[in-house]
Amino acid sequence: MKIQGQPYRTIWPTPDGSAVEVIDQTKLPHRFEIRRLATMEEAADAIRTMVVRGAPLIGATAAYGLALALRDDASDEALDRAHDTLLATRPTAVNLRWALKRICDAVRNRPRETRAAAAWREAAIICDEDVEICRRIGEHGLKLFREAAAKKNGATLNVLTHCNAGWLACVDWGTALAPIYMAYDEGIPLHVWVDETRPRNQGASLTAFELGSHGVPHAVIADNAGGHLMQAGRVDLAIVGTDRVTRNGDVANKIGTYLKALAAKDNAVPFYVALPSTTIDWTLASGDLIPIEERAGTEVTHMSGRLPDGSLATVEITPQGSAAANPGFDVTPARLVTGFVTERGVCATNEQGLRSLFPEGAAPKP
Ligand code: MRU
Repeated sequence: MKIQGQPYRTIWPTPDGSAVEVIDQTKLPHRFEIRRLATMEEAADAIRTMVVRGAPLIGATAAYGLALALRDDASDEALDRAHDTLLATRPTAVNLRWALKRICDAVRNRPRETRAAAAWREAAIICDEDVEICRRIGEHGLKLFREAAAKKNGATLNVLTHCNAGWLACVDWGTALAPIYMAYDEGIPLHVWVDETRPRNQGASLTAFELGSHGVPHAVIADNAGGHLMQAGRVDLAIVGTDRVTRNGDVANKIGTYLKALAAKDNAVPFYVALPSTTIDWTLASGDLIPIEERAGTEVTHMSGRLPDGSLATVEITPQGSAAANPGFDVTPARLVTGFVTERGVCATNEQGLRSLFPEGAAPKP
């Protein structure tokens, strides 16, 4: 996608192939800074501290991280160590595990001296595939948007989204935002309600930045506003991303997604989840088994932003001494989700639906 007319992906190798570069998402929307990741440790740290985030991008960064580790030591032991370090960075997004396995599978039976280069190539392929997968998700989602827009007889289609499942969360395009970009580009009149997504404000800072950069009309709302807007008939459809979908169709996504899905059900608002097949966890039967990331309470007790003088600052918003809890994700039961939008089409939110599109039961090539 473009920022001030210049096309960007979220991660790319440097021209000399010595490192990868990423957009530092902790600085957006106020600063556009590029961060160089030259070692496995730097890649792991970027995932942990959310310089990069979003399930597909976490996977892509980890893939490059593993390739970087193999440059220093291409032994089986070093591969396993780097795999485990990267896997421990964030627990909920299953794309991380998927991408690491893909690199391990690509290199394990190779001579050591060829492993690093093979891993680097595989990481690049993962990135290219992710772009194509997201483009296809966009095309399938676009059909739903066309149908929804047709019912509006020319009036603006109001879409609600939570967190950031746009191109910043992937390598390009995004999952939930891909159909939004395509619908906008096609001339469908639409407007997006952007949940701010406390505590880290991925909606207010990242989704609003993306949509604004593309010219898509949007308004940031407090997380608690969505239910009211749905009751008032001001939301035509909701679409979100996901970090892990279990076999039965339960969906882990950013904390607060579940409440939006409940409100959508109560108000007969279609609630779609967009996902690449790399986000399906065929090994888990249901959502209660998904590990939910617990992050630091300081993300709740403090907020970051820009001061009037332009400098960035973090301020405390709770009384000193108040405890805080910070579960990063929640699980939306499959029954609350209208449909899954995948790279192979839209399906029912159950095992049968998932298997109808992915009979091989594993992350396929697009
Ligand atoms: O904690 P984050 O910012 O990594 O959480 C991101 C989300 O919850 C996204 O909705 C999800 O990863 C899907 S991204 C296509």
